[in-house]
Amino acid sequence: MDYFHYRNRELFCEDVPVATLAAQYGTPLWIYSKRTLLHHLTQIQQAFAAVDPVICYSVKANSNLGILKVMQAAGSSFDVVSGGELYRVKQAGADTSNVVFAGVGKTDDEIRFALENHILMFDVESEAELDAIAAVAGSMNVVAPVALRLNPDIDAKTHSKTTTGKKGNKFGMDIERATQLADKVLADKRLDLRGIHMHLGSPILTTDPYAAAIVKAVDVVKSFRAKGHDTRWINLGGGFGINYRQQEALPASAYAEVIVPHILASGCKLALEPGRFIVGNSGILVSQVIYTKREGGKLFVIQDAAMNDLIRPAMYDAFHRVWPVHTPIDPPTDFEAVVPGCEPTDVVGPVCESSDYFAKDRYLPPMHRGDLVCTFSAGAYGMAMSSNYNSRPKAVEILVDGSTHHVIRKRETYADLVAHELT
Ligand code: LLP
Repeated sequence: MDYFHYRNRELFCEDVPVATLAAQYGTPLWIYSKRTLLHHLTQIQQAFAAVDPVICYSVKANSNLGILKVMQAAGSSFDVVSGGELYRVKQAGADTSNVVFAGVGKTDDEIRFALENHILMFDVESEAELDAIAAVAGSMNVVAPVALRLNPDIDAKTHSKTTTGKKGNKFGMDIERATQLADKVLADKRLDLRGIHMHLGSPILTTDPYAAAIVKAVDVVKSFRAKGHDTRWINLGGGFGINYRQQEALPASAYAEVIVPHILASGCKLALEPGRFIVGNSGILVSQVIYTKREGGKLFVIQDAAMNDLIRPAMYDAFHRVWPVHTPIDPPTDFEAVVPGCEPTDVVGPVCESSDYFAKDRYLPPMHRGDLVCTFSAGAYGMAMSSNYNSRPKAVEILVDGSTHHVIRKRETYADLVAHELT
């Protein structure tokens, strides 16, 4: 469900024609739909309402201040993985007391910054990190709130580069070590053990991994409580899948069904860290065709957006729906199918790498120089992972709200590219 749709074969974001924004701001450009953002946050809030969870929007998915402000105003909290992300959350005017801080390599400076801002808890990923947090907290004369991040050894069946909860991944610690560390935390006045954390991978399109994880989480909580500790929090991370291809994603209520009963029975507070589920289908990337060419028996559409803007196809073989903004035929429901009137097409960018493509052998209508092309479901890990590779300025970002819109990040200029360089 999102608010990007074709009216008379022309693409709109909410009530704004995408072509109007492209004419005003140029291409490539990112367009986000506020209504879609709020819809997905509300879905999670309602699905889990019975346990009144703390929903920590995962800043890494899209960290633009304009997006963070929408989340904050709608009652979301935040999951951060760096001092930079915590800074952004503060800049967005958010209350930091419900912020959770994950990541395998927190530095002392980042730990200090988080303690100064009274975050809800650190998701601690190793004994060495626990020692560092205790030392920094001791030097500041404060008590650090911690949750132990478990590696539950559950296969979430995601791309190998986005699996985090399997033995052998760099994240978290196994359950035996967490049990030993719980004793250490309890004995240390500088630390307060708030609970446990897990994040299984991303994107996850079934509920099975969560069903397995919550059982393990509750068992660990019980074992901590048996030691006399009052463990209050279970943080199940993010990872809920979205519709990249068709309607393959589960509603938030499906995840809630397997999680909520266990939370209620355990008497714990629930934290969640959804990123992609909220922002993924809330954003598109719009480009313009520069050239078309036929070579080696293939048709190439060369557009002005590239892997430096959206790296997901190159990095994870990710599938994104691609379709013209003005379409001569109704877009198909199945973008992987043979579409009558269309021809297999490779949509590629100008960057000097063969992996710079958005779509391969995709059935697309005829396209010509100057045509606008939309890449859908690009709101998560799109701009957030973009770079200046090939000295390409980063694109402009626009937030649409009904029939209005505003710029939430200006297009970079050539001067911006060299602004930090010294000769
Ligand atoms: N919490 C933790 C501890 C995480 O590591 C992540 C994502 C999330 C929450 C949010 O996951 P989400 O709800 O957005 O699935 N760049 C990859 C995804 C990497 C995810 C990293 N961690 C991609 O483009 O698919």
